[in-house]
Amino acid sequence: MPHIFDPLILRDVTFPNRIWLAPMCQYSCDAGDGIPTAWHFVHHATRAVGGFGLLIAEASAVAPEGRITPRDAGIWNHDQVAGWRRVVDVVHSHGAKMGIQLAHAGRKASTYPPFAGMANGSVPESDAGWPTLAPSAIAFDTLAEPRAMTLEEIDDVVDAFVDAAARADEAGFDVVEIHAAHGYLLHEFLSPASNRRDDEYGGSFENRARLLLRVTREVREIWPQSKPLFVRISATDWADTGWNVDESVRLAILLKEIGVDLVDVSSGGNVIADIPAEKNYQVPLAQAIRERSGVATGAVGLITEPAQAEAILTEGHADAVLLGRAALREPYWPLRAASELGVTWRDAPYPEQYTRGA
Ligand code: FNR
Repeated sequence: MPHIFDPLILRDVTFPNRIWLAPMCQYSCDAGDGIPTAWHFVHHATRAVGGFGLLIAEASAVAPEGRITPRDAGIWNHDQVAGWRRVVDVVHSHGAKMGIQLAHAGRKASTYPPFAGMANGSVPESDAGWPTLAPSAIAFDTLAEPRAMTLEEIDDVVDAFVDAAARADEAGFDVVEIHAAHGYLLHEFLSPASNRRDDEYGGSFENRARLLLRVTREVREIWPQSKPLFVRISATDWADTGWNVDESVRLAILLKEIGVDLVDVSSGGNVIADIPAEKNYQVPLAQAIRERSGVATGAVGLITEPAQAEAILTEGHADAVLLGRAALREPYWPLRAASELGVTWRDAPYPEQYTRGA
């Protein structure tokens, strides 16, 4: 059996295979309410039918001001929990596991959805935008300047992540992934490029990592011990003055000690940088973290072909692969992978309705 079809056990959860759907914002909630819609139901149900072993729902805001766009999903109230439960239930009914990425967009909040036809920029308050918060008053690219957070606001963000994790459990999710990548709030604290604070949350590695470690520790305390906890990081800012791989390895060691089960290894997003985005470009980052910290990793980024994904696992670079855009193009990618890699239909993740044609 190819390795990508091997189950993976983390805590009490058995993932039926190691081909996972990467978290991807759908910008498809109505009226700024953050409640998943029929689109979210269809988007996830389709990929569960297509054989993905774990689906991680998009960056879901832990507080309204943490949304990237007004149409982002949220998990800051109970109406959202009810919406997510429908999605989780349909995914479970097809044998897949379901995770949710908990997020706060920090200085990259209050922007337009990519397909809104607006230039890259902040949504003004006159168009239902809101002021943004960050470690320091440093704008990202052309976005509005954020306000530096007070210590009380930092405490509030920690509480928001913890409460969101409790709601994720109520909604039936198997996995929580804390979003600390792509230049959003927790990454902004990690990186010296965006964090110029002179209190206990800025300066040294320990201080810059303090917020993420606090969030992770407090989420781990309330997230059931039976369920795995993931953290997505940008392993490098791809910039000399930014966050880097050595710091990511140090961080991963600490995350593992706290009880993080898997680090989902992405990169970039916090500063404008030249990113060598080509096949497997982030795999060496996942490999370095896996080898040097001992934590399980997920590899993501331009993984598009079954043999490519299989090699990443058999060569020991990661414990699972996550697919983003390939899974948008091809929701039944795992079924194609099974066919290409010679897995019989009996062993492939076919829904029973499709086995006659397999
Ligand atoms: C993304 N990505 C992303 N990442 C993340 O951590 N949270 C998110 O909500 C999103 N949203 C999102 C939306 C869309 C439409 C795309 C295409 C991407 C990044 C994604 O998870 C993945 O890391 C990248 O797309 C790289 O993987 P692929 O697409 O090369 O397989």
